[in-house]
Order: sequence, then structure tokens, then C-alpha cells
Amino acid sequence: MPSICTSLRLLALVSAFTQQFTAAEPSQSTSDRCLLLAQNTSFKDTTIISSTRLAANPSVQPWGVPCGSAPVPVSVPLCRVQFSVRTSNESEVKAEAWLPDEWYGRFLGIGNAGSGGCIDYSTLNYGSSLHFASFASNNGHDGDIGLPFLHHPQVLQDFASRSIHALSVAGKRIVKAYYTRPHSKSYFIGCSQGGRQGTYSALHWPKDFDGILAGAPVTNLHFVLGWLGLMSRYTGAPAGMSSPSFIPRELWAAVRREILKQCDGVDGVVNGIVDDGEACRFRPEVLACSTLGGEEGVERLTEPQLEAVRKVYSALVGGDGEVLFFGYSLGADPLTVFDPLFGGSLFPYANDWWKYAIYQDPDHDFSNFSLADIFAANELDPFEVSTISGEFQELHARGGKFLTYTGTHDQLVPAGNAKRAYTLALQSMGKRAMSAFYRLFLVPGMDHCGSPFSEGPFRIGHNAFSVPPVNDTEHNVLLALVDWVEGGRAPERVVGTGGEGEERVLCRHPLRSVWDGGRWVCKL
Ligand SMILES: *[C@@H]1O[C@H](CO)[C@@H](O)[C@H](O)[C@H]1NC(C)=O
Ligand SMILES: *[C@@H]1O[C@H](CO)[C@@H](O)[C@H](O)[C@H]1NC(C)=O
Ligand SMILES: *[C@@H]1O[C@H](CO)[C@@H](O)[C@H](O)[C@H]1NC(C)=O
Ligand SMILES: *[C@@H]1O[C@H](CO)[C@@H](O)[C@H](O)[C@H]1NC(C)=O
Repeated sequence: MPSICTSLRLLALVSAFTQQFTAAEPSQSTSDRCLLLAQNTSFKDTTIISSTRLAANPSVQPWGVPCGSAPVPVSVPLCRVQFSVRTSNESEVKAEAWLPDEWYGRFLGIGNAGSGGCIDYSTLNYGSSLHFASFASNNGHDGDIGLPFLHHPQVLQDFASRSIHALSVAGKRIVKAYYTRPHSKSYFIGCSQGGRQGTYSALHWPKDFDGILAGAPVTNLHFVLGWLGLMSRYTGAPAGMSSPSFIPRELWAAVRREILKQCDGVDGVVNGIVDDGEACRFRPEVLACSTLGGEEGVERLTEPQLEAVRKVYSALVGGDGEVLFFGYSLGADPLTVFDPLFGGSLFPYANDWWKYAIYQDPDHDFSNFSLADIFAANELDPFEVSTISGEFQELHARGGKFLTYTGTHDQLVPAGNAKRAYTLALQSMGKRAMSAFYRLFLVPGMDHCGSPFSEGPFRIGHNAFSVPPVNDTEHNVLLALVDWVEGGRAPERVVGTGGEGEERVLCRHPLRSVWDGGRWVCKL
């Protein structure tokens, strides 16, 4: 019975360090220790601003710009530490540590989303409730915006490459000072930009983390952001709704219905999920027919709109015909990202990146944003932020593990990006090494970083909003990573849970999750 093995594995994970924890507990009360941390601790480049003991279940106000809704819940008793790390003479990273009373010896570094700029409180709460000493930072600037990069290369460097390393170095010192012993193993968790940060750590700071969980990584950053910029250009930006190629919401809904009609069944199951967009050749022409349905002619695309849809769903091709990037994910629901992406202005993250980080010109005119801008950014590639490399030799050599996942309905980062990163690593590392340290799981129907609106089995424990019904190594990717690092058991499969509780097996790439008539199985 798998459930028995599973619960044993769960028990082992949860209790491994309990004994050590009890033995190492100093005589001071936890609240004294927490207070003293701020009063009596100083490290090079690190300033502890405050340390506050929190009982379980209060809520706290965020520090700086929050990522989600305030106030922030606190699930377990812990010591909350606010600190800053000086990264240069003109930059610093603001960070928080949530140090649970019941600590299992593990360090958890938490990444950022978008342009960074806010502390991820929900993951601080998630990590500490799973007994990790959890650390998150503002990534070196306040607010999910690019303006702070303007004429501040040090702030840009924090975003591109330095903040996670600074968090790891300072955080581990804080752990040692507070618990009076060093951490046993260190982990990273992040999605989207955080997935890129985790990949960057694996490539450039391979000693920082023993296990890295990197979701929907924005690696190949200039292509991901630039391609999203092109999506908004195709559909009318920056002219907006007055552009003939602008596609209003209702028409996007019709486009989506037509895609599902043509592509949903290609994987063998009609369930509202496109398992593999690359397997379907979408033909949008029918969308220009007046017989489409709805009120007479209402759902019909004009020629410029049809051309825009064609461009959106076609691969990005270079001047000499080579395929540079992917078409928009066929499974993705464009309505969920309508305002930022298809609403008539340039995708805001592309806008900010090119304005403030690449061209350093707040008045830059995006009327002709094109492939040339993507190439220009890639050429500049500040602090190697593009994060496109398969050279994981050092991480592999020291026994580090890299677990990555992405959804096939991702509306911002196409699943092909993670597959391509996998192939790049495979070419550099070889099949045997990959099996030992790098695994990619594709999640059919999961949207960007697995929101609860996903059509597919998004609940895999990769964040606080996707907690599976059981927190064991089979259902929860963070615990699976811990088991891989500490128990040497590499994850072969993950059981994802959908919004209605339905389960589906997720497979390590290149295996795919397919319906064999009675259940989901992994097949090539
Ligand atoms: C403060 O730190 C110093 C140096 O680490 C240590 O010797 C001293 O015992 C600490 N004081 C308290 C009250 O913990
Ligand atoms: C920081 O250091 C650099 C290089 O040493 C220098 O050019 C710059 O003026 C300094 N900035 C500040 C704010 O002191
Ligand atoms: C799983 O862990 C999360 C985070 O600690 C917690 O909120 C949830 O209640 C746990 N679920 C179960 C079934 O233990
Ligand atoms: C955009 O391209 C058009 C046509 O080549 C040109 O006339 C216009 O000046 C360009 N605009 C900008 C801002 O570069």
C-alpha cells in the first residue's frame, strides 16, 4: 500500500532533526533569544533592524511593499527578524527571516516575482510552517517596478545576480546566531523571476543551496520579456484600442474556444487541458468566418485581428528563418492576462526593463519595439541576467539538486522555455548527470506559477496557495526536494492535485502524463 510508505517517509522528514533541535535548545527562552538577536548581533554588511517574537496565528503588517494582500498571516510561533544587507556603497537588500520555534535544521531562501521589489510573505509563512528557517528579501529595491534600475547599476546587479546570494550569506549567519548551531541543508524556492534566480544561483553560486526548486523560470530573460512585449505589439500596443489589430476580450474568448475545439483532444483526452501545445497545429482562419456563432458577425475577426492572432500563436522566427522562440501557449487563457498583455499598452515588465535597465531612457518610444530590441538587450546582458546556460558542473559535483516545474497553460512563460533550458543542460551535462541532479516536471493545465485558477492539477506544494491534501514527498515538490537532497531519493513522479481534488500523475521530462484508459501513467 503506497499510503503506508508515504506516511513513513513523511514522518522521517518531519522528525529527522527534532532530536537535535531539543538537544541544542539553549536555556534562554525563545522570546529572550529573539530579542537578543537584534540587540546583540552584528555581522559585516548586515544590520539587524528588529527582532520580534510572534505567537502562532496573529497577523503582521508587511515591511515595505507587500507582494500580496496585507496583513500577513503567521501560522506557527516564530522569531521575525528584519535586517538589511549592504551590497555596495549605493545599494542594499532589505530582508526578513521567519525563524520557527520548531526548527528542523533547514535553511530556505525565497525568490521574487516580476521585477522583484517586495518581500514574499506568503512563502515566509509557508516555509516556516514547514519548519524551515525562512528568508525573503525585497531584491534590492522597493516595488514591483523597474524605475529603481535607472542609472543605478548596483540596484540592477542586486536584481540580476546578487540579492539571493547576499540573502544566503547573511541569512545563514543569522541562523547560526539564533539557533546556536549552523543549518544542516539549504534550499531555495521561487517561481517565475524566482525560478530564474534559482537557476542563476545554481549556475553562479552553486554552494549557496543544496536543493533548488525553480518554477516557470524566466531564464533566457530577454527573450521571455521581449516576446511578451511583441505579443502586446502584435495586438495593438502602444497605439491601444484604436489599433486595427486590437482584439477585445469577447473575441479572445472566441479565440480560446476555437483553440480548445482544435487542440484539446490532440492528447487523447477532452478535458479542457492542452497537454502539449507543440503537438497541435492551430488554424485560426475559421475565426474570420461570419458563421462563427454568437450574434450575427459579432465573434468574427477582421483581417488585421486575424493576422495578430496568427503572429501570437506562431513561433518567433529570425531574419534567416531560424526559430528563435515559441508561439503563445495554446492552452493558456489570454483573458487572465488581458490587461497587461493584450490590453493595448506594452507589457509593463518589458516596458520597464527596456526603459530603465537596457536603454536607461525614461522617454524611450516603443512604437517600433521589435526583435532588434531583444537582440540589443541580449548583447548588453547586464550581469549575465539572461541566465541562459547549461553549465551546472559545480552544482552537480557538490551533490546539489535542481528541481524545476512548469505548466502547459502558462500565460507568461511558455513551457517550451523550461524544456529548452533542460535540453541546454542535457547537452552540457549528459544524461546520467541530469538524472542525478536535474529534473523537470511539466504540469498539464497549470497556469503561470500554478494559481488556483489553473485548469490542471496545480496543487504540488510549490507555494502557500497550492498546498496539496497531504504534505508528503509524493504530493509536495518542496518535500520531494528535501527527500532527494537528504534521503537520496530522486523524484520519479509527482502526484498533482486539481481544484476539485482530482489527482494526476506528473512525469519527469521527457516522459509525459498520459491516460491509458483507466489511469494516468508516465510514458515517453
Ligand atoms: C552578546 O554577544 C557577545 C559576543 O558575541 C557575547 O559574548 C555575549 O554573551 C552576548 N550577550 C548576551 C546577553 O547574549
Ligand atoms: C560608489 O563607489 C563608486 C566606485 O568606487 C563611485 O564611483 C561612486 O561615486 C560611489 N557612490 C556613492 C554614492 O558614494
Ligand atoms: C500542509 O502544510 C501546510 C503548510 O504548513 C499547512 O497549512 C497544511 O495544513 C498542511 N496540510 C496537511 C494536510 O497537513
Ligand atoms: C517607427 O518606424 C517608422 C517606420 O519605419 C518610422 O517612421 C518612425 O519614426 C519610427 N518611430 C520610432 C519612435 O522609432
